[in-house]
Amino acid sequence: MGKTALALAVASCLASYAGGASRAPVRAQHGMVASTSEIASQVGVDILKRGGNAVDAAVAVAFALVVTYPSAGNLGGGGFMLIHRSATGEEITIDYRERAPGRAHRDMYVDGEGRVAPEKSTVGHLAVAVPGTPAGLAMALEKYGTLKLEEALQPAIELAEKGFPVSTFLSDSLKRNESRLGRFPESRRIFLRGGKPYEPGELLVQKELAETLKKIARGGPKAFYEGKIARLIVNEMKSHGGWIALEDLKDYRPVLRPPVRGTYRGYEVVSMGPPSSGGIVLLQMLNQVEPFPLKELGPHSSKTLHLLAEAMRRAFADRARYLGDADYVKVPVKGLISKPYARKMRETFNGEYASSSLEVGPGDPFPYESEETTHFSVVDKDGNAVANTYTLNDSYGSGVTVRGAGFLLNNEMDDFTSAPGVPNMYGLIQGEANSIQGGKRPLSAMTPTFLKKDGKVLLIVGSPGGPTIINTVFQIILNVVNHGMSIQEAVDAPRIHHQWLPDVLQVEPRSLVKDVELALRSRGHQIRERGFMGDAQGIWIDWATGIRYGGSDPRQDGRPIGY
Ligand code: GLY
Repeated sequence: MGKTALALAVASCLASYAGGASRAPVRAQHGMVASTSEIASQVGVDILKRGGNAVDAAVAVAFALVVTYPSAGNLGGGGFMLIHRSATGEEITIDYRERAPGRAHRDMYVDGEGRVAPEKSTVGHLAVAVPGTPAGLAMALEKYGTLKLEEALQPAIELAEKGFPVSTFLSDSLKRNESRLGRFPESRRIFLRGGKPYEPGELLVQKELAETLKKIARGGPKAFYEGKIARLIVNEMKSHGGWIALEDLKDYRPVLRPPVRGTYRGYEVVSMGPPSSGGIVLLQMLNQVEPFPLKELGPHSSKTLHLLAEAMRRAFADRARYLGDADYVKVPVKGLISKPYARKMRETFNGEYASSSLEVGPGDPFPYESEETTHFSVVDKDGNAVANTYTLNDSYGSGVTVRGAGFLLNNEMDDFTSAPGVPNMYGLIQGEANSIQGGKRPLSAMTPTFLKKDGKVLLIVGSPGGPTIINTVFQIILNVVNHGMSIQEAVDAPRIHHQWLPDVLQVEPRSLVKDVELALRSRGHQIRERGFMGDAQGIWIDWATGIRYGGSDPRQDGRPIGY
């Protein structure tokens, strides 16, 4: 893109009118939080207004989401936080991904005949990996925040103790997940009110959770990993065949890691490295499509979608082969994200016809689909920025609530390769690099990302959605950089998803006009509708005026709030 086109693209990102978007981006002069819960966004903005920095706000938002968004906001899961410090210009990531319990091993979900036992890695106690969230959030605050842990926890404690009005969205979500939550008496009691699910407007009070949050406020992460909460988790495990032991909790450590970096059309791209595949796969796709004139081809044309699908197919094939926890396996990060490697991949594109993914009989993941993770983005008055994505994996994780502690546990063990070649919950075929081992972190797709220019963060973005996360972030970046959309329009725009196998181009309901669909089919793409993809939360900052523009995904219930 030439200089003028780039300037135009950037200028239209600043739009404060709705245009074709679901609404105008939310504007603010000082700080902004975009999350999937309006209550949680408000918690963050209140902290920014009182002089807290972006990390303070992010930690408070993460704790508030535990209360207001129990399907993915969590204490019993894990995630990744990407931080930009405006004073030094540096970026850091905190990896607080869950770890496999020490007893875990490669074939733990496979029966004598080599078949993966149904549900063992997705529902119930054996699906649970050692949670990372309390330690990760405490580390973020201690190293980069200004608040004390009890101050960051206070809003969440109040929300849990006094309750908050259940939204239509949450009421529907709890009812939709009745079969999972209803299998576990403690989850049924708390989240389904013993069989009388919450209606919109009713108060959800979570007394046990409030007590747990208070224990963490008083005792720090130690209360969770070594104190009473640890004992409650282990009791829960022992009485139901789970494998997490006291030593697993005691040994858990979040890790500071450098982010992965690349460039795209004059912007610096900063994102999450292993054990997430997000940043690497994102950069591989951006590198592959960089020279194509996507703006001229149009954002939703068959030609553009064909090129995106080809880039996705190739990057996801590499994901399956090479990616895993880099503390356990060698991941060739430099090569994967290099421009010459992308050129080689691009040379294998057929400009007209779909390539064929390997001849592997695909499973049918669609009936099991549910992709709950949550992302939020924060910027403060000084330009410090946080992109945080964290998760229980599935909606409401394993379905298990820790008796006496009031929080749900993840089913992150399903993100490992249960058996090479056998699709996981997301239909992803995975390889040896991501096989199960005690202490290892399962491969993730979470992609908290910044776009930077001249040392400043311009875009903060991320999304839930299992493997679709990476493609959601990819398409939002193209929408902003190539197509000049405002942050809200970029987040609204229809999404596609290809993950190599199954060899299917997945599209959102009613998102393709018929002649584009026919043109893609005639290029050889198999097209299948899936549900709506992702719940992106983005912030764009115009450094000429200092205005922050927030965009929350209309696919769910979120809202950016600024001041
Ligand atoms: N649990 C979804 C992910 O980490 O990609």
